[in-house]
Amino acid sequence: MRIDIISVLPEMLEGFVNTSILARAQKKGLVEIYLHNLRDYTTDKHRRVDDYPYGGFAGMVIQCQPIDDCIAALQKERNYDEIIFTTPDGEQFDQPMANELSLKKNIIILCGHYKGVDYRIREHLITKEISIGDYVLTGGEIAAAAMSDAIVRLIPGVLSDEQSALSDSFQDNLLAAPVYTRPADYKGWKVPEILLSGHEQKIKEWELAQSLERTKRLRPDLLE
Ligand code: ADE
Repeated sequence: MRIDIISVLPEMLEGFVNTSILARAQKKGLVEIYLHNLRDYTTDKHRRVDDYPYGGFAGMVIQCQPIDDCIAALQKERNYDEIIFTTPDGEQFDQPMANELSLKKNIIILCGHYKGVDYRIREHLITKEISIGDYVLTGGEIAAAAMSDAIVRLIPGVLSDEQSALSDSFQDNLLAAPVYTRPADYKGWKVPEILLSGHEQKIKEWELAQSLERTKRLRPDLLE
């Protein structure tokens, strides 16, 4: 899989895509992530990518030209399955969407910024608009990072134990069961007996019961 992220602040994402699981996934050749600075595509001699909005509204709007040219340059090299725009008014990102996107070959994520981007980009080039939640971030970079992380960890081979992605919270619309590690007794805080019993079947039943109980209590909407 290949992810191309277009941003006016790619430096915000550099550490993120070159650290930990994303770095390891790239080293293993399971995913390629490229950051593109929108300013590298502007024809403006001062490297400006935004301008005042028509209508006298407040804020600045990213212009069509640099985005169109950047996307066109990428599309010249390969086909993209999805051109995503991060925006608080997009479709809400969730685990099923992460699963779906993890099966794509090439995707572009365009990070929104300032007051937004010229709406004609959204009408003519964007195939999917995604929000990571009902709150407004300064820019789409954190949304792009959150989505990339959720997508990449689902690619087979990225996590050392594939099971661990399959048993995530939300993967079956259930929250994950609690987990514990040594010692079995820490300051009198005890690990549930059943987990020390070695009864595989009973432990599985306990895990499912815990998942159901936590989901009912914390996220009953997931069971509806
Ligand atoms: N840009 C600003 N806020 C956002 C959000 N909640 N989700 C995605 N992109 C955004």
